[in-house]
Amino acid sequence: MTTECLEQPRLLVKGGRVLRGQVPVSGAKNSALKLMAASLLAPGVSILHNVPDITDVRTMQEVLEYLGAAVDFTDGTMTIDTSGVRSQEAPYELVQRMRASIQIMGPLVARFGRARVALPGGCNLGPRKIDIHLRGLQEMGATIRSDHGFIEVTAPRLQGVRMFLDYPSVGATENLLMAAVLAEGTTVLENAAREPEVVDLCKFLISMGADIEGAGSSTLRITGVKELHPAEHTVIGDRIEAGTYLIAGAVTGGEVEVTGISPHFLDLFLFKLRAVGVRVHENTRSIKVTGDPASYVAVDVATLPYPGFPTDLQAQMMVLLSIAQGVSVVTENVFENRFGFVDELIRLGADIRVDGNHAVVTGGRALTGATVRCPDLRAGAALTIAGLAAEGCTEIRDIYHIDRGYERFEEKLRALGAEVERIHPEPASPRFR
Ligand code: EPZ
Repeated sequence: MTTECLEQPRLLVKGGRVLRGQVPVSGAKNSALKLMAASLLAPGVSILHNVPDITDVRTMQEVLEYLGAAVDFTDGTMTIDTSGVRSQEAPYELVQRMRASIQIMGPLVARFGRARVALPGGCNLGPRKIDIHLRGLQEMGATIRSDHGFIEVTAPRLQGVRMFLDYPSVGATENLLMAAVLAEGTTVLENAAREPEVVDLCKFLISMGADIEGAGSSTLRITGVKELHPAEHTVIGDRIEAGTYLIAGAVTGGEVEVTGISPHFLDLFLFKLRAVGVRVHENTRSIKVTGDPASYVAVDVATLPYPGFPTDLQAQMMVLLSIAQGVSVVTENVFENRFGFVDELIRLGADIRVDGNHAVVTGGRALTGATVRCPDLRAGAALTIAGLAAEGCTEIRDIYHIDRGYERFEEKLRALGAEVERIHPEPASPRFR
């Protein structure tokens, strides 16, 4: 083992345990990050509740503090005072750590007339373009300059306009929404994203005094106002975290209930679980699954923008299909390269053949423990689930990816009966030649 491996925390998972019990979902990462950015739109103190304590939230806190805001984050409640914001620049060091830093662009241009943000690099999911974000800002009258790896957006006052998004991009919808709330006149976003996290952002903006119609539909109509005021808001539950624990329960043949989540956020995902043969019980704020892995059957899955099957649950679903009887086809339509973890899953015994954006999964395989690496956040959670279903022990490396989006991950799994522990780095030893 190289010393590099010994210097990084790893997860050790012992397979074969049946998961049983209740797990509370944390606040949604993909809402909280945008709500934090939206607080920049008004001077004063905004308060967010149910904020997950995860690495990405801490990074966004650093971004806000870099801009001059004062942030206090204690026990899930975040208080953001933006009256001291002086800078409109997000440095490369922070943006390359978290692509979602670009979500400050819309609010900064709207409030200060300027934003200078390092271009987000690529990531393990493929090139992460921002052309839809920039084209929309240009259509609202902004000037876009790019130099030395930065994008600079300037506009004395953005103008409302009717625009069509080439693709219902979540981030572009949110950046343009936050740009439009203080623009001159009315902005109509056609082909906008409909994700629950976009709706959560609309609700927060409306509580700040914004005028927004159509939240949750593909047409958002925003009438600009002169100014906004700070507000208080509770972040919705994380539907992707919920789906992750539901699949963990299903693959171990246990009984797992996730609480603090609306089943409506996961309609198609739950439909697919039922098609596999998982028994799903829904309540207004919780979802419970039970099932016998020997009875699961293959189903085809294609990821799509909401309300389609969520791309962020594709890897977790692939694990379930690897143990179901029959052949499934998983099609990834959202990201260019979201099968990076398949080779790792094959190391655990799965039989998967990738052809372009299709993965052919031949199920009915018994998984066996091995050492694997996380290529990204959701794949890391999926490989952990595979370890729970595998015979023997699995060591998961590069778990910093998991810590970006799962609060108290191994603690919540252990509360369900899983045998999983985090191995901390051993003291640095002299490099072996
Ligand atoms: C958000 O990413 C989420 N991240 C992702 O979750 C999620 O997978 C994704 O939406 C889709 O639901 C956050 O909210 C922080 P997109 P985002 O813009 O906004 C292309 C996780 O694991 N595109 O909808 O970046 C893009 O290349 C993460 O929590 C353009 O071509 O997603 C991609 O192929 C992973 N031009 C597709 O659209 C643009 O200007 C979807 O991107 C913007 C996007």
